[in-house]
Amino acid sequence: MPAHDVLIIGAGLAGQRAALAAAEKGASVAIMSKVHPVRSHSVAAAGGINAAISVDDDWHSHAYDTVKGSDFLGDQDAIEIMCSEAPGEVMHLEHMGVTFHRNDKGEMDLRAFGGASMKRTAYVADITGQALLHVLYEQLMKHHETVERFEEWFTTSLLKDDAGRCCGVLARDVRSGRMEAFTAKNVILACGGAGQAYKPTTNGLIVTGDGIAMAYRAGAPLMDMEMVQYHPTCLVETGILITEGARGEGAHLLNANGERFMEKMAPNKMELASRDVVSRAEQIEINEGRGVGPNGSGIYLDVTVVPRKRTLEALREIVNLGRDFAGVDITKEPITIRPGQHYIMGGVKTDVDGRTPIEGLYAAGEVACVSVHGGNRLGANSLLDTLIFGRRAGEHAAARSASMGMPAVDTKAQLREDAGRIDGIIARPHDGRRVSEIKNELGELMNKHAAVFRDEQGLQHALGEIGRLKEEAGKAWIDDRGTVFNQDVLGAIELGYMVDCAEATVVAAIERKESRGAQFRTDYPERNDGEWLKHIDITLEDGAGGGPRVSYSPVTITQWQPEERKY
Ligand code: FUM
Repeated sequence: MPAHDVLIIGAGLAGQRAALAAAEKGASVAIMSKVHPVRSHSVAAAGGINAAISVDDDWHSHAYDTVKGSDFLGDQDAIEIMCSEAPGEVMHLEHMGVTFHRNDKGEMDLRAFGGASMKRTAYVADITGQALLHVLYEQLMKHHETVERFEEWFTTSLLKDDAGRCCGVLARDVRSGRMEAFTAKNVILACGGAGQAYKPTTNGLIVTGDGIAMAYRAGAPLMDMEMVQYHPTCLVETGILITEGARGEGAHLLNANGERFMEKMAPNKMELASRDVVSRAEQIEINEGRGVGPNGSGIYLDVTVVPRKRTLEALREIVNLGRDFAGVDITKEPITIRPGQHYIMGGVKTDVDGRTPIEGLYAAGEVACVSVHGGNRLGANSLLDTLIFGRRAGEHAAARSASMGMPAVDTKAQLREDAGRIDGIIARPHDGRRVSEIKNELGELMNKHAAVFRDEQGLQHALGEIGRLKEEAGKAWIDDRGTVFNQDVLGAIELGYMVDCAEATVVAAIERKESRGAQFRTDYPERNDGEWLKHIDITLEDGAGGGPRVSYSPVTITQWQPEERKY
């Protein structure tokens, strides 16, 4: 049975950064992913990474912008850490080999991004996440003696000992179907968000809430789950992301009358207001009949105002996406976009070292809620979050493992249980519903009722439907009855994870009777600091099979008192 000091689940940026940090501190490390690491979803954060590296910038300004972007729900101690450590982290990435774009003077170039008071986004064209991921993977290979890689292994449960400490995982080798127990002194969840609970979404097919649901089922609280980010520029049919870098480079948003409607909502920042504000403004234009494209369901993103040479150099990926997925040459004509699910601010509640309340269990990146994003994440803060808190979790877990022995845990019973559960899914009779049908219904339900605008009636309806879908998911059937690369059976397990995440989101959205950040309640349209300047925590009552229980925790305020948010 493999045993390691630090076992990391997920090999995107948070996971790889955690692995490198833990290995550099002398820990024996394993990193496990259900896909090949360079196919992780971190590739999708395209436009860049924020850091106050310009001589006229200051991390306090970055932190204030982040606090304001969060609609004052972010924890300011965590935000201070993220923003003050950002410049060092970006320099470290460059030294590892990331080819950040440079200006004519040969300095690292910075572009504008939403909600930022100055240009502070370092970038590699519009493939920044991908560039970072490849460089970190090279570093992982360099550390092959201390970091063991388990690629294409799917985690089925967290292992806990009798004292309730996390001490490893059970996983299935995707290639062969073999189950294995992995013990570890510490487990770091770094396996991303739950965007696939929505349809459409910018998120890859692999983003199915695995880590969030596994931690939740193991007893860890989730926090800020109601806060779901809709990115303002996604292709209408597919939800494919058109980077915010386009607006950072100067692109305009136009309604059917050719008006730059952001003037009404954010006269100072215009298209570069925070994402919640821009998405809401777009949705209002669409709802009030000033949309463009099929059924007036979109908005024009006009990149033609950016010099063509600059577009081809700094936005080349969206030139390709526009051509291949919308048949539009964005250097010549506007492209139709709309708000689309992109990110969840909520996740497994952690402290600033990635620790969850379950001893030995850490979380970092989108799976976690530190909370640095609060009600709304600023664009280009997600790559930063993954790296800062991935590193901190890796370092903390390595230090913890130095002072303890390998946990003794009997894995046989749980291994049998998980293997039996999977065999049971494979053997299900073909008389219920298909996994894919239920997944589509869930995604469309969430996109209708837990989206940019929400209200009590829609959310209550969604909650009832999720209850039904949960039952159906427990009986859903699959086609593939084999063991080799049986993605079908993994899809059935993932569906269960997504339903749990969706339920927590809707329960929290019903609970929060105000509008803040990404949660806009049409029945409670104002922010209400008196009653709701607090986090909503969701815990699974009575373990797996129980229901969500709501509690609250305070928002940490250090330097910035809540004030009216205007852009
Ligand atoms: O639009 C984008 O490039 C996305 C970046 C992010 O979500 O941080």
